[in-house]
Amino acid sequence: MEDKIDLHKQLDENRQGKAITLERTSKENGKKLFLESYGCAMNFSDSEVVASILTGEGYSTTTDEHEADIILINTCSIRENAETRVRKRLENFKNRKKRQPGLIVGVLGCMAERLKKNLLEEEQLVDIVAGPDSYRELPSLITEVEGGQKAVNVLLSRDETYADISPIRLDNKGVTSFVSITRGCDNMCSFCVVPFTRGRERSRDPKTIFKECEDLFKNGYREVTLLGQNVDSYRWNMTSKGEIKDESMTTTNFAQLMQLVAKISPDLRIRFSTSHPKDMSDEVLEVIAANDNICNYIHLPIQSGNSDVLKRMNRGYTREWYLERVQKIREIIPDCAITTDIITGFCDETDAEHADTISIMKEVKWDFSYMYKYSERPKTLAERRFKDSVPEDIKGSRLTEVIDLQQANSLVINKNRIGKIYKVLVEGTSKRSDDFMNGRNDHNTKVVFPKGNFEKCDYVMVKINDCTTATLLGEVVEVCQPSKN
Ligand code: SAH
Ligand code: SF4
Ligand code: F3S
Repeated sequence: MEDKIDLHKQLDENRQGKAITLERTSKENGKKLFLESYGCAMNFSDSEVVASILTGEGYSTTTDEHEADIILINTCSIRENAETRVRKRLENFKNRKKRQPGLIVGVLGCMAERLKKNLLEEEQLVDIVAGPDSYRELPSLITEVEGGQKAVNVLLSRDETYADISPIRLDNKGVTSFVSITRGCDNMCSFCVVPFTRGRERSRDPKTIFKECEDLFKNGYREVTLLGQNVDSYRWNMTSKGEIKDESMTTTNFAQLMQLVAKISPDLRIRFSTSHPKDMSDEVLEVIAANDNICNYIHLPIQSGNSDVLKRMNRGYTREWYLERVQKIREIIPDCAITTDIITGFCDETDAEHADTISIMKEVKWDFSYMYKYSERPKTLAERRFKDSVPEDIKGSRLTEVIDLQQANSLVINKNRIGKIYKVLVEGTSKRSDDFMNGRNDHNTKVVFPKGNFEKCDYVMVKINDCTTATLLGEVVEVCQPSKN
């Protein structure tokens, strides 16, 4: 079951592990690149940067790995099974490499950073190991390999944000896009490998974020998701204590950044992920409430409903603090969808501590949750300090209990939406049937409706007639006209 939901938030499940094609550039070098991505939205966003760098060097891409001259996999280390999937994939490439001696295979992303040159030894077929801050070096790493060497660059940077690189969009639908606003993470949650694989937190220049979002809108996109491991700690030209770094420049916090981007057009929807309960401010909530085009949807991972477990996780908040934040959201933004992440079976979690997760689920009633069994990761604080003491079967039964409760909650929430009318951004034809289209409402819930004459990027008002645990079904009652900017 975990595998099914082991796909990080807001990512279309079908994009996991899928290869992509790019337009050809004028400076073609005749070589074909096969690029495959795993993990979170950040990784997919990074693959768009990699694609931009390599098409600039003349590579064209292919979705057929058999015709590739170079294969790059952008990898994830968040849980052990994320790494197992990639290892299986690398196994697949082994025979091909024997048959095609010139083939270059590279590992990018979090596994590259975590395993460093061990990857070259463990997986003898890997030629390139490139960590998340070294993608500008990919062309020279490829040249080294072509010269007969193995190439590794896993240096983490304090300031790399790829701010000046215009990503090549890999999602060919052209409706919605990710835009990175921070990289890295300074939080050191005890279970988490991200601070080790992504390095220190840094924020990207707001001018480049604005420009990227504005360009997307001009190119027809109608939704952007601002991405960071903890978007609430976005700060430009400010230290974490709020001191100004350079008096001659303006400062920008996350609330101000969202306000800036929201001004591009009322027809550009803004989403953001991930919010952190310890840092999410009332100022951010006020900005969401004040702007119709900032979606009423907050992904606010709790991880556990018990304050002692939260302390062991080093999350920086208690159960009560989280509940207060939820109350504030509901006070300031009426009808805001809230989703979460939950880990079951963290080190020494007792039955009573797990029961607190169940009770907070009943209290908050999240619209949706991403739920995982705890997976110990090497070098993390939890691995060094605590024993991974909860047996697998207990982790599993707790996870099943959490999933069942979430599904029941989601169904009740969706049933309560029957009869309501929502503004939906049309994304395309439904995967299940050509007679239907789908899109998402403000709450990020998938809405399916009969095809009609609608096109992707249209905004339509849909009246909800039916639902499942994850989808609303309805009919279009009105087509929205574009706003006059
Ligand atoms: N920055 C985000 C989380 C990014 S990782 C935040 O702080 O909320 C996405 C989710 O993966 C986490 O919220 C957590 O629920 C889960 N996760 C991270 N490390 C894990 C581990 N070692 N075992 C199981 N789940 C984990
Ligand atoms: Fe990991 Fe915590 Fe940072 Fe999220 S906030 S990426 S869970 S260390
Ligand atoms: Fe993302 Fe996985 Fe790395 S969740 S930051 S790709 S460890």
